[in-house]
Amino acid sequence: DGDHDASPLELSRASFPHDFTFGVASSAYQYEGAANQNGRRPSIWDTFTKLYPDKIKDHSSGMIADEFYYLYKKDIPLLKEIGWDFFRFSISWPRLVPNGKVSKGVNQQGINFYNSLIDELLAYGIQPFVTLFHWDVPQTLEDKYGGFLSREIVDDFHDYADLCFKEFGDRVKYWTTLNEPNNFAQFGYATGTYAPGRCSNYIGNCTNGNSATEPYIVAHHLLLSHASVVQLYRSKYQTSQKGKIGLGTSTYWMKPKFPTDQSRDAAMRALDFQFGWIVDPITFGDYPKSMRNLVGTRLPNFTIAESKMLRGSYDYLGVNYYTARYVDESTSYSTTNLSYTTDGRCNLTTERDGITIGKPTPVVWIYMYPKGIRDLMHYVKNKYNPSVIYILENGVGDANNVTLSLKDALRDTLRMKYHKLHLFYLSKAIEEGVNVKGYLTWSFLDNFSWALGYTVRYGVIFIDYKNGLKRYPKDSSLWFKQFLRAENTTH
Ligand code: BG6
Repeated sequence: DGDHDASPLELSRASFPHDFTFGVASSAYQYEGAANQNGRRPSIWDTFTKLYPDKIKDHSSGMIADEFYYLYKKDIPLLKEIGWDFFRFSISWPRLVPNGKVSKGVNQQGINFYNSLIDELLAYGIQPFVTLFHWDVPQTLEDKYGGFLSREIVDDFHDYADLCFKEFGDRVKYWTTLNEPNNFAQFGYATGTYAPGRCSNYIGNCTNGNSATEPYIVAHHLLLSHASVVQLYRSKYQTSQKGKIGLGTSTYWMKPKFPTDQSRDAAMRALDFQFGWIVDPITFGDYPKSMRNLVGTRLPNFTIAESKMLRGSYDYLGVNYYTARYVDESTSYSTTNLSYTTDGRCNLTTERDGITIGKPTPVVWIYMYPKGIRDLMHYVKNKYNPSVIYILENGVGDANNVTLSLKDALRDTLRMKYHKLHLFYLSKAIEEGVNVKGYLTWSFLDNFSWALGYTVRYGVIFIDYKNGLKRYPKDSSLWFKQFLRAENTTH
């Protein structure tokens, strides 16, 4: 029931408040390529794709990706042509600081690249929205002390962020410390499907970790890294640079499977374990009560000072929304097989009575449930009441169907429908009083989709991977251009 056609026919940017902004999102490893060039050293994603090619659906990597590192000057005019206000990208830590530690040296070619990217965007009137960490830990730090498993990373991340603020902060007014720390911790350390591929033996034959504790430790260090960087920005840079800093995280919308207290409670727990895990500490200074109760001593503690540093450590909350799940209570909880996914005692499913929660899409985990964005916005407002929310990602992928002609591959009707409906429900949430200030589409270009490799295409711009990475606008680009047209606006 997430998919009935609202009548978003008249929808345009004029349906949103006059200061509402639109943009597109990307990330370094998924876009840049040039992975071993101009001084960049490996990140854990370079290592992971090399060590475990079978974990990537088409055995690919981001080694070349979209070669955005070389082609950005051609891509930015396309952004402008469509009419976006924002371009969200992430800085590759190992491109800027190849050994992970600023004290060990900074790569001037990396600084030059991001300077030039930022200047080019601004020259076209597009605001850079910059993520400091989108999952690409420098491999040297992984080798040295286990990356985010070690508390040592908090200082190294702090120094790297300091360098970014110092070099780019005169022009960057929107900073995001971390992208989806929840997914980094869960997929990197519980299921082992993302770098660094750690998990315990309850899934497949992966035995190089301990998923009963590692995801919690990793998330804990991510949170402390976030808080220390926000403190740094606020004390040293914000007054002069006048930017905003926040964090972006994601969740499914969780819908109780049945109209029972058990299902409702389970859905709330699922939200706690996926979203509250990150958003409770940065809002209230500690993990959700449900997590404290169910995870017990495996959940790390914050000191009073840390808790204080975390509380309120964002100027805006970034939310990534893609899809929804039904939730009911899990009866298969096992005390011998502890993990992030079972600790919450909730069972997530995509169907009820044989009917899926929304239309399936070519991306296995995405079912179209546009109403969920409205429900999620109300949930966030009621529970956390952030002063500002940005939707930092929302989108869907087409299948990379090699038998399609180029002409047919550019007819992305599913994507247009997906965005129309999500924008419609988002506009409702805004009318109903939720303070959302921007909407960023995932994604601008087709790109490397982590475990799905290049088998799905999320871009409004098609990349011809077989033919010199040539760019072609899909129909959704034209739709967005129409949607964003200045004459539609009331200001
Ligand atoms: C988000 C990530 O989880 O979803 C993006 O921040 C990612 O980096 C996007 O690409 C879509 O997911 P995927 O794995 O299907 O590409």
